Amino acid sequence: MVNFRTVYQRVSVQWRAIILLLILALATVTIAYGDFLDLITLALFLLFIASQVFWIGRIVDLGKWLFPDQPRVRLVVIADLVYLFVIAYSFPTTIGQGHTFRSAYYGLSNIVFEAVFWWWFVGSMLAFALVVAFGTVERTTRVAAWACRKARQSTKGRVAAASSSVADPVSPGRRHFLEQTAVLISATPFVVAGYGLLHSRLDVEVVRPRIPLARLPKAFDGFRIAQLSDIHISPFTTADYIHRCVSITNELKPDLIALTGDYIAWDTGQQGEVVRTLAGLRAPFGVFGCLGNHEEESGTEESITGLFMAQGIHILRQARAPIVLGGETLNLIGIDEPHGRTEAEWRRDVHRKLQQIKELMMPETVNILLSHGDFPDMFDRVAELGIDLMLAGHTHGGQLSLDFVHRGLNLSHLIYDYTSGWYEKNGAQLYVNRGIGTTGFPIRLGARPEISVFELSRT
Ligand SMILES: [Fe+2]
Repeated sequence: MVNFRTVYQRVSVQWRAIILLLILALATVTIAYGDFLDLITLALFLLFIASQVFWIGRIVDLGKWLFPDQPRVRLVVIADLVYLFVIAYSFPTTIGQGHTFRSAYYGLSNIVFEAVFWWWFVGSMLAFALVVAFGTVERTTRVAAWACRKARQSTKGRVAAASSSVADPVSPGRRHFLEQTAVLISATPFVVAGYGLLHSRLDVEVVRPRIPLARLPKAFDGFRIAQLSDIHISPFTTADYIHRCVSITNELKPDLIALTGDYIAWDTGQQGEVVRTLAGLRAPFGVFGCLGNHEEESGTEESITGLFMAQGIHILRQARAPIVLGGETLNLIGIDEPHGRTEAEWRRDVHRKLQQIKELMMPETVNILLSHGDFPDMFDRVAELGIDLMLAGHTHGGQLSLDFVHRGLNLSHLIYDYTSGWYEKNGAQLYVNRGIGTTGFPIRLGARPEISVFELSRT
């Protein structure tokens, strides 16, 4: 069914085209905007196009195998038309809506369509990348084997025949094995993407970091703070699932609970529901939070803060909440995401927010900052201010991650330095929570949803 050599040759040809396009894109975007983010988006888009061209070719191969009497051109036309129809049908819900769809699209068929679309998107991209990698390794091995043979022949003084080339020294048995392996490799990412969609996305992990703070008052030694982040209520992060996360958090019996923003996805009509669900959180020293970029971008900062307040949850907006225990104090600070319609406005607001943090800090006290973290060097800047501990979210751990192979190997690391877990700089500490919800594609692989509960310690 699949001729591996043909598959590889096609990938190889397309790969050269991709490299060429990326170089052109790099030159164009860099010259026109100098915007690294645009470049990443464009590169992913080009990779997606190349992968789709490749997979349409495989579907045509399959069609040829199933219907050998049909002309190949006809199969190509049918496959292209079906593909374009599916993309056009999904455009209003999946693509046209950006991160996720709004309440008008909450019908079951659209949810299923969105899930299938993203499963295909992630699966086909990963499978394409794997086939390219596999083909490259196989090709390199063959070239190395050919070079060894040539060297051996030269040593023996024999002149290689003119027809001797890289061309095919592979035995039929080995060819069959390679073809089967290629099929297996191609199929695996689709299975893995399905796992990430149906299971891993909801497979909450409780992480229990111990945070040593040299200046921590004795009364707070062993004090426990639970953190929930990036809730993103949506058809893929339902109120039932959030309620389960709330129950898990309560069972951990934290002293205080910190929420670090992004409560909605894009549907502003869901803010009441997410607040009602989070209102089930219980901690003797209270539930505090900050807002995320989704509240800022959707214009719900005021409204959701009011809804939280009505439920007894304190959203700290450029505000502090001293936590007192045994006559000692721990200073909790919350800050909004920077605002700004232009780059210059945004930078001015970043500067303003840093000034506000400075003014909210309490001297001779442990200062803990809740900041969603939607700008790359936030932690570096607050570390310079002397913040002891910053709790953040936003990155979702990249959602697709190979952090278990090497820390930082995840999608989010294309933009951010601090993407998941604990970091330290100049005596300041940062913890980046992977969140419990998703945006963009509703898939998590290697970046499970996370509830963290920190135990503060003096040593
Ligand atoms: Fe988020």
